[in-house]
Amino acid sequence: MFETVRRHPLKVLTHVAQDPFDAFTAFQEEFLSRFESKDPVRYPADPNWDAGMREAMGIAPDFARAEFATLWDEVIGELRERGMKVGPGSFHAWNDGDAGFVRAIWTLIRFMRPTTVVETGVAHGMTSRFILEGLERNGEGRLWSIDLPPINPVTRQEVGVAVATETLRRRWTYIAGTSRRRLPVLLDRLGQVDLFIHDSMHSGRNVAFEMETAWPRLRAGGAMVVDDIDLNPSFGRFVERHPEHPSFVCTAEPVTPDLRRFNQKGLFGIVLKAPLRLEH
Ligand SMILES: C[S@@+](CC[C@H](N)C(=O)[O-])C[C@H]1O[C@@H](n2cnc3c(N)ncnc32)[C@H](O)[C@@H]1O
Repeated sequence: MFETVRRHPLKVLTHVAQDPFDAFTAFQEEFLSRFESKDPVRYPADPNWDAGMREAMGIAPDFARAEFATLWDEVIGELRERGMKVGPGSFHAWNDGDAGFVRAIWTLIRFMRPTTVVETGVAHGMTSRFILEGLERNGEGRLWSIDLPPINPVTRQEVGVAVATETLRRRWTYIAGTSRRRLPVLLDRLGQVDLFIHDSMHSGRNVAFEMETAWPRLRAGGAMVVDDIDLNPSFGRFVERHPEHPSFVCTAEPVTPDLRRFNQKGLFGIVLKAPLRLEH
């Protein structure tokens, strides 16, 4: 952030003038994150998270795996053809959603057929693209994405580029700003959410805030997917506080070897909100 101020002082001033409260919040989040431990949290990852999640939800074993693999290759190919760098560190210092994380989301979208999906963190829009592709195939549902766009004008232009077609954008609402300020307002407006995905700022403070804010709004049978949980202890603390809800510590997956992330590190987490199958 401080480097951005030095390199783009006018852009920073414009940004602050547009929404001083949000600019202050962004600064505050960044500043406070500097006091957090940078030691990774060594969660024991569950290599069978996929089977565990499917079993808990009653999803058939090979559900959606083949269609995901085809679409993943298609999307990666399309983005590279358009000259985009994809994968780890491809958007400023941020990573595009990796294959394991995105496949978990894809499976949930196709199985749950959610009407209301909220995510934080867009960058190139890899997760947004797959969520919207899934909703389109389902023929129902809408995605709200909260994202603090970078001040750097070059990277800023790349926000959401993976969501290229108008057909997909019809189901999408992009909300620019910090999740700390935008998420409570959005959730108040929506009332209830089927699926919540955290992929914005991965400070312990922000992850805890997003999970605790989204949880009461998540419907029973809904799911929460949280990226990069090994960067801070917030996911573990959350599941300790909510032991009655099934949770999984998941490893990233090398569907395409060069998109593998962090060499076995870079865990993501899933929490399913019980009761999973409501009696009628
Ligand atoms: C890891 S990237 C998102 C990757 C994306 N989900 C994908 O799969 O391609 C994180 C994004 O969150 C944004 N961000 C950073 N801090 C934020 C905050 N406090 N609130 C909302 N978004 C934030 C970053 O600008 C960046 O676009």
